[in-house]
Amino acid sequence: MEVAELKFKLQKFPRVKFLCGATPIVYAENISKELGVEVYIKRDDLTGLALGGNKTRKLEFIMGEAIKQKCDTVITAGAVHSNHALQTAAAAKKLNMDVVLVLRGREEDKGNLLMNKLLNADIHIYDVPNSSALRGYMEEIAGELSKKGKKPMIIPVGGSNPIGVLGYLGAVVEIIEQCENLKIDFDYVVCSTSSGGTQAGIFMGFKLLKPEVATLGIGVGDPKEELVEDVENLIINTSKMLDVKENLISKKEIEERTIDGYGFGGYGTIAKEVIDFIRYVAGKEGFYLDPVYTGKAFYGLIDIIKKKNIPKGSRVLFIHTGGLGGLFQYEEIISKMILNYPES
Ligand SMILES: Cc1ncc(COP(=O)(O)O)c(C=O)c1O
Repeated sequence: MEVAELKFKLQKFPRVKFLCGATPIVYAENISKELGVEVYIKRDDLTGLALGGNKTRKLEFIMGEAIKQKCDTVITAGAVHSNHALQTAAAAKKLNMDVVLVLRGREEDKGNLLMNKLLNADIHIYDVPNSSALRGYMEEIAGELSKKGKKPMIIPVGGSNPIGVLGYLGAVVEIIEQCENLKIDFDYVVCSTSSGGTQAGIFMGFKLLKPEVATLGIGVGDPKEELVEDVENLIINTSKMLDVKENLISKKEIEERTIDGYGFGGYGTIAKEVIDFIRYVAGKEGFYLDPVYTGKAFYGLIDIIKKKNIPKGSRVLFIHTGGLGGLFQYEEIISKMILNYPES
């Protein structure tokens, strides 16, 4: 498919502009020299809504749909550190909508939770083991609001529904146009993955527009089987919505391109190896990864390169999906971990 055709298809969906413009692609020169592989970073941590991150792209389309449906309230869910919840709250406030955040975890006024309070979001915190257990609470709240005459829309965890996936199809268009200007061709495009929407958009977009690019999604501790199933369903349903071939990518291929083994104790676990790695990258390149998503996924990518599963001389683009608030949400654990570092 030509880029123009996908752009035309995307233009048919309602969209709100939240991004400040195309996010930069920067060359990680020091790390690349060490590895013998050219590593570039797509700075989607700089998307521009709240503290930035990948959800802003999904929310451009999701909030476009909310406006189309004349909703006055959005409800979403996640962990207390959820970057998605924060960007959703910021998007809603910008559009003069009400926002209800249904979160799980410990209430501490720091990181993204503090940011959400500064946005005057309506926050409800529950003691449940995982975010899917929050669905029932969201439905209950939506029911109560409807009875009061409000028009709420439930946005799933991570903004990962077919409408949200459109945001990352848009990102692929943006990357390909930037590649033309920068005169670069990437061999690999790699992202972290959790609720699957970013990975589904990246996989689909490159399969449609530049199938010679190898795409990888690196898991951050979620069960691989669930992730593969979610990505497969998202790709099928987004393809239906866009009227493109549904079996664009086989389940086997999604399995092969979904990498696990870099969860470091499971989703949301803050690991010393990852914090050390964040410090290494910051010291080499002057930007921060986050402890829950990009720290683990970029660690995975560098490990894959070191194990020579990506050949020397390749050009690799890593999508920095944001998550900076996580460093502040977990500042106590992180500062204990770095306490014994030698002075540099
Ligand atoms: C910073 C960051 N990176 C990556 C992801 C994973 O994206 P997705 O949920 O689309 O798989 C998230 C999701 O919450 C995130 O907040």
